[in-house]
Parts: sequence; structure tokens; C-alpha cells
Amino acid sequence: MTRSPRVLRQFAACVILSIALAGCSGVQSSLTPAGTEGARVAILGTVLYIGAAVILTIVVVLTAFALWGGDRFRALLADQRTIIAGGVVFPVIVLSVLLVWGLTLMARVRADGAGAPPVHLRIAVVGEQWWWRVTYLDAGGRELATSANEIHLPQSRPVELILTTADVIHSFWVPSLAGKLDMIPGRINILRLEATATGAYRGQCAEYCGGAHALMALWAVVKPENEFKAWLSHEAQGAASPADPVAETGQQLFLSNGCGACHAIRGTDASGRIGPDLTHVGARLTIGAGILPTNVETFASWIRDSHRHKPENRMLPYGILSETEARAIGTYLAGLR
Ligand code: CUA
Repeated sequence: MTRSPRVLRQFAACVILSIALAGCSGVQSSLTPAGTEGARVAILGTVLYIGAAVILTIVVVLTAFALWGGDRFRALLADQRTIIAGGVVFPVIVLSVLLVWGLTLMARVRADGAGAPPVHLRIAVVGEQWWWRVTYLDAGGRELATSANEIHLPQSRPVELILTTADVIHSFWVPSLAGKLDMIPGRINILRLEATATGAYRGQCAEYCGGAHALMALWAVVKPENEFKAWLSHEAQGAASPADPVAETGQQLFLSNGCGACHAIRGTDASGRIGPDLTHVGARLTIGAGILPTNVETFASWIRDSHRHKPENRMLPYGILSETEARAIGTYLAGLR
């Protein structure tokens, strides 16, 4: 039995379409919104995609008629009135409507946007090469808790993200929750968002910022407000004491090897501000800014040779530590929940 070329063509079309559509959903997709602003962007995107497809189809059909159509139709297409209507009037109307709509939509996510609901929480997010410093603030702007590479949000509560950078331009983007906003040296950009569905959503730095740009990810974790409040009050507390002798050895190694010069673990002598705060690092989904899952093995591997996982990152490789020593530190860090 031989398959007809038509069946093969249909099969190939199905495979290509399914590959293309596989990228349309998931934890990092603007087409599966999980927030008010994300939903607005998704509607705008859908209108743009469908509109572009319709206009492209019309243009292709008209081009075909211009090439192979009858003389009368070709004369109509070549008429000056047709050219002005299709080439000037139509684009001006379509683009003006889209511009006004887009600007209105953007205004709502700005802090000074008209009619914006009151904000329940402010979170300062600083882009750094190549990770995110995250600080939760109270109404008076006082620091409640500092964390990194993971943002926790209360469900259905408007939140204001204060976006700045410590070095070069980064861009904060969690596609399911809102549009992207750049973090620009010398500027404070405010992103308002309201997450409506609980879950974990992946974000990514969306502006090239140097060597490890592609490995600068983050997670936004949305939970019911009561759970969020409990989480935040725990996050504001100091670190847990080591739970067993291995973790205790790990803590001693952490402190004696100078890790505290760059990292803070609140409640210990480690108070460095250069790298991520590790007070509750064991409870985070990932380490290395979205690069590795959080467990003893990944901590140990990261400590001994983080550049294997994330080339050019700013942490010195601690190859001088033995595997056992690195695992002891990993055990301590994994216990910081
Ligand atoms: Cu930070 Cu790209």
C-alpha cells in the first residue's frame, strides 16, 4: 500500500502545527494568563495575531489576483483610489486604533494609572547580573523580608513591583502575569499586577544583560492571601538552626569559608549583601536563578563549580572544598526552610 502525497502532506502539516502550538501554553506563556494584566495582554495579543492573519490573507489573495486575475480586476487594483484606500486610509485607521488601545492598556499597569485599585503590597525587585533581589516592603516602605529569584504573591490582590537595576539594563517578565518592563540604571519603574490564579509561574529576564542572560530566570508563586501572610511572616524571621550534626558542620564550613561575606543568613554572622540572601533558601523552588532544583546535590555541585551550571556568574568556584564538605554545606542550606 502506498500513502498518497495528500495524506503525507496533511500528516506533515499536523506535526508542524502541533510543534508550533506546543509553545502556546504552560507556566511561561502570555497566552495562558493567570492575572488581570496578563489577561489584557493575552486579549491584545489574540486580536493582533488573528488580525494579522486576516490582513495577510487578504494581501496574498489580492496579490494573486494582481498577478493572474482578469483585466477588469487588475485595473481596479491599479486604480489610484484603491491604492489610497488600501495603502493609506486602512493602515492609518487600524494602527491608530491599536495605538490608543495599547496605550490605554499600558496606563493601567502604571502606578499613576487612572482608576487603578489600591495596592496591598509593594515588592522591590532589583535586577543584578544574573539574578533577582526581592524585598517585601510594608506600607511605610520598611523592609519586611529579603529573598531572591522567587516572588510570592497573594491571590487577587493588586501588588506593586518596584523595578530597579544594580548594574545594566534587565527586563522583568513573567508572561502569565503581566507584560514585561525594563529595569533601567538610574530609573525606578513600577509594575502593577494582580495574580488571579494560584500556582507557580516562570519568568525570565527579557533584555540581554551579558553572559548569563539566558540563565536569569525567576518564579512567581501565587497563593491564597492567608497562606501568603503566613509565608511572609515566616520569611521575615531568622534562619532555622541546623537540624543535625551534618547540617551543623555545614553551617560551620559556611561561616569559616567566608560565604557570609557575600551572602546573608539572618540570625547568623553571615550578613553579606553582594549575593542572594539565603535565610530561607531551602524553601525556594530553584537555586541559581531558576537554573537547578533545590536539593543537597545541586547545592553541593553549585558550591564547588557554579560556572559549570551558569558560566560567568559572579560567585567564585569553591573547588577547594571536598565533595563531603560541599554536601555538608548543601545539607545546611537545604534545611533553611
Ligand atoms: Cu538580566 Cu538579561
